[in-house]
Amino acid sequence: MTDTDTALATGVSAGSLSGRVALVTGAAAGIGAGIATALAGQGAIVAALDRDGDRAAATAEACGSSALSLTVDVSREEDVARAVGQVVSEAGRIDILINAAGVLGETASLMEVPASEWNRIFAINALGAFLCLKEAAAHMIDGARGGSIVNVASIAAKEGRMDFAPYAASKAAVLSLTWSSALRLAPHQIRVNALCPAAVDTEFWQRLENIKQEQGSEPGATRAARAAAIPLGRFAYPREVAAAALYLCSDDAAFVTGTSIDLTGAAHTGS
Ligand SMILES: NC(=O)c1ccc[n+]([C@@H]2O[C@H](COP(=O)([O-])OP(=O)(O)OC[C@H]3O[C@@H](n4cnc5c(N)ncnc54)[C@H](O)[C@@H]3O)[C@@H](O)[C@H]2O)c1
Repeated sequence: MTDTDTALATGVSAGSLSGRVALVTGAAAGIGAGIATALAGQGAIVAALDRDGDRAAATAEACGSSALSLTVDVSREEDVARAVGQVVSEAGRIDILINAAGVLGETASLMEVPASEWNRIFAINALGAFLCLKEAAAHMIDGARGGSIVNVASIAAKEGRMDFAPYAASKAAVLSLTWSSALRLAPHQIRVNALCPAAVDTEFWQRLENIKQEQGSEPGATRAARAAAIPLGRFAYPREVAAAALYLCSDDAAFVTGTSIDLTGAAHTGS
């Protein structure tokens, strides 16, 4: 996509994030990688964070010579503090945080979810988002230049999921964190918003397809059924989620905080 295409697609003028430093978690793949490259396309200096350091480095390479990558498990407080400190010392500031790291977890009906699985999902999706937000916001406050934080939640946060209850609940926690932190950080001109996608074409869905196949589904059947339940008739692409993130990070969204954008293709299912 050229700069002009991006500008037409997003309403954001090319280079409008020039000089801003963006920290993106989950940047090794899928939505996080899509947002990282889109931010770099608008001139931002990207720090690509992921527990998969090799693939985070590949994203950073795609983001240009000013980008950096760090191996981070977002559920570990010491990892997050070290990584955020390193970004500030190397890039000098943080203006944008994208919390995209997340896991779906194993499929299990509600009554069979072990406490260990609940805690694992919450540690990555909810605690991880909180730790990154807390560390990055502290630097944004110190810098006194405001900032934008985008939490990648899920439409599951608003609907529930019969077979992925810990995931849906963890994303509801991310949404609530979005509202609370928007209130707390507004006096510092730090805006906090969430994205709530339904089905996005990433490896995340391939893993779900694999789980369902192990349980006896026909190859491709889960994905086909999900796409058929989306009135727009298809999954979203990571670049379409990235376009919404770019808007939320742009100055055009200067009065947008404490809210969420649903990217569902009008799909609403609780399954
Ligand atoms: N794909 C979808 O349909 C969809 C829909 C709604 C919401 N989401 C959310 O979007 C976000 C990105 O999902 P995706 O589809 O790109 O998935 P993905 O699996 O392609 O990417 C997720 C990334 O997060 C990283 N990650 C996982 N645990 C981590 C940890 N503890 N520390 C650091 N990094 C970690 C993974 O290594 C991976 O690179 C997730 O939070 C997911 O819940 C995805």
